[in-house]
Amino acid sequence: MITSRRGFLRSLTGGAVAGAVAQWPLTGVTRAATFELSRFNQTDGLILLNSNENVYGPSAKVVDAIRSSIGSVNRYPRMQYDSLAERIADFHNVKPEQVLLGCGSTDILRLTAFAFLGPGKQLIRASPTFGAIEHYGRGAGAEVISVQLTPAFAHDLDGMLVRATASTTLVYICNPNNPTASLTPRKDLENFIRKLPESTFVVIDEAYHQYAGQSGTNASFIDRPYDDERIIVTRTFSKVYGLAGLRLGYAVASPKLVHQMRKFATEDDINALVTRAAAAALDETESVKDFVRRNTDDRQEFFNQAMARAVKPIDSHANFVMMNTFHPAEEVIQYFRKNNILIGRPLPPMDTYIRVSLGWPEEMLAFWRTWDGLPYTKRLMSH
Ligand SMILES: Cc1ncc(COP(=O)(O)O)c(C=O)c1O
Repeated sequence: MITSRRGFLRSLTGGAVAGAVAQWPLTGVTRAATFELSRFNQTDGLILLNSNENVYGPSAKVVDAIRSSIGSVNRYPRMQYDSLAERIADFHNVKPEQVLLGCGSTDILRLTAFAFLGPGKQLIRASPTFGAIEHYGRGAGAEVISVQLTPAFAHDLDGMLVRATASTTLVYICNPNNPTASLTPRKDLENFIRKLPESTFVVIDEAYHQYAGQSGTNASFIDRPYDDERIIVTRTFSKVYGLAGLRLGYAVASPKLVHQMRKFATEDDINALVTRAAAAALDETESVKDFVRRNTDDRQEFFNQAMARAVKPIDSHANFVMMNTFHPAEEVIQYFRKNNILIGRPLPPMDTYIRVSLGWPEEMLAFWRTWDGLPYTKRLMSH
């Protein structure tokens, strides 16, 4: 068992592991060109495969932007707020009044809940899905209706429609969905939105959008807008841009909805460092492409390793993978925890599934080594 991060890294010098790492399908950018701090600053020795972060980011230019803005941390970043909102608007080809910044997209989900929910109102969301909106919806006094995903792990849009009434003021769609990493087709979503009661707003959470790639079945509601003023799209700098620690997310919606949500926003909740970092990150199209490419390779390797063990994960369109262990997930999670690897928390009602964020290749080797030591592996093979 690896008891510290240093021990883990030392263990990588062992011949077998080093050989396996060298064969890993590495893409164009060398490791030296990426910023190493996010990899080595875990002093507690844990391998973090639990929060769907980008282990390769942020890019070196973004780190430079953070460094060069340190001198202004004694000032409120009020003017930078506006220029960042303009930069994001420009990036998406929308008006600045359509952009609302928040302290992570979690904050945006909080604003959405407080702007559109309250006592006597209902939120409809999938189960399982990302939990923030449910939490804030309940906090706002609304009723929360959960509709299980389809057998293909898409949102059950027909099931959601059946539950929608005049009191349903908000529907939450997470696409790709966390924790299943699955997609709900664009066309189905358009049909669904058209049939919703007029008083229902729709928040579409595109936190992992870049990892899914654009296609006929998957198109962002920002990049390919749908003509309906009830839609709020949320994005984050925490995932592909590698800035989870700096906390920045945003919404793109009609000026009227942004105005409504802004009433609940905390003033000055965007920090001085992230305003510069985010602007630099938006310019980094090549490094974003590289992060996505690396993720595609890592995801493929994860599936190869899983298949070699007769395990079939859910098809993933994100930087994490969910799979059935045919064993209580809580025990599997604890087993990994004892081996210094954190994976996603239990995700009811999928009580035998685990969610694994993709980490560095060496970390994934440690994951599979630990998996092979699970006392339940043999049972799995029989499924
Ligand atoms: C689907 C989804 N939305 C939103 C968030 C919140 O991200 P943040 O608050 O860091 O922007 C997460 C975080 O994991 C997520 O998985």
